[in-house]
Amino acid sequence: MSRNQELIEKIEQLKQKRNAIILAHNYQLGEIQDLADFQGDSLDLSRKAAATDAEVIVFCGVHFMAETAAILSPDKTVLLPDRNSGCPMADMIDADSLRAKKAEHPEAVVVTYVNSTAEVKAESDICCTSANAAAVVSSIAADKEIIFTPDQYLGTFVQEKTGRRMILWPGFCPTHRRIKPEHIEQKKKEYPDAKVVVHPECRPEVTALADAVTSTSQMRKFAAENPADTIIVGTELGIIHPLQKDNPKKKFIALTEQAICPNMKMSTLEKVLKALEQNQYLVKVEGPVRQKAEQALLRMLAVS
Ligand code: 13P
Ligand code: SF4
Repeated sequence: MSRNQELIEKIEQLKQKRNAIILAHNYQLGEIQDLADFQGDSLDLSRKAAATDAEVIVFCGVHFMAETAAILSPDKTVLLPDRNSGCPMADMIDADSLRAKKAEHPEAVVVTYVNSTAEVKAESDICCTSANAAAVVSSIAADKEIIFTPDQYLGTFVQEKTGRRMILWPGFCPTHRRIKPEHIEQKKKEYPDAKVVVHPECRPEVTALADAVTSTSQMRKFAAENPADTIIVGTELGIIHPLQKDNPKKKFIALTEQAICPNMKMSTLEKVLKALEQNQYLVKVEGPVRQKAEQALLRMLAVS
């Protein structure tokens, strides 16, 4: 038996014993996606975290995702296999600076991308993910001013889609920012019949050139439904694994091999096993921060 098979067997046994579920984001290592009970984008995963009967959730993703699960399921044990798997975009805003911005615009509604800390969600009126951001913004009364945090690029994309002007926080995803318009131009020359799908965390110059701009799970839908047999993908490279698995006859080309999020690659089979054996690393959100953050998340889930 290979080392990986041995680890997978041990994980399966412990999962049964502890009544645990493994959730994995679409950017995780292939072996982690294959091991997971449920895999998806941030919206899928937050819905699943809110609805599962399992007592333990092992969250293979980054810290804000495990935190979202802990906010929505406060009585469950939520484990993050590597405590260092953060999100640099989420760290580009904190509760104090958001409070200062709100003081400048006391009437504004605050829409916060789930890629944010619990404290920032608690200061927000409603959350969104890349899959439902336009729907969330459109649900807000037309005469209301909106502060959109922390992703300026997702915010710009939503402005274009909804026609709503917003006050944009200047955050961004360093991984998606590495994707440039020239990457699309080069790949389109190499594969003239291919379709291009990119994530809304990309720069506006990139989203402007794409055939579709979607969340990671919506990319899977696009790839399955679009007749093109070559699809060029502009997001974190982990997405190629489920796309190729879902569509073995199609060809998927990454816009750039530089689009890797190191934080998303930190969960390994060894660390998932250790998480279940040693109950680590516990992610908990308590008190008024949890309650207020939960309100913002539940308002989002009610929209989409
Ligand atoms: P989605 O899977 O929700 O599109 O997520 C993008 C992302 O950056 C997660 O870190
Ligand atoms: Fe954060 Fe970007 Fe990594 Fe997503 S891909 S976790 S937004 S740094």
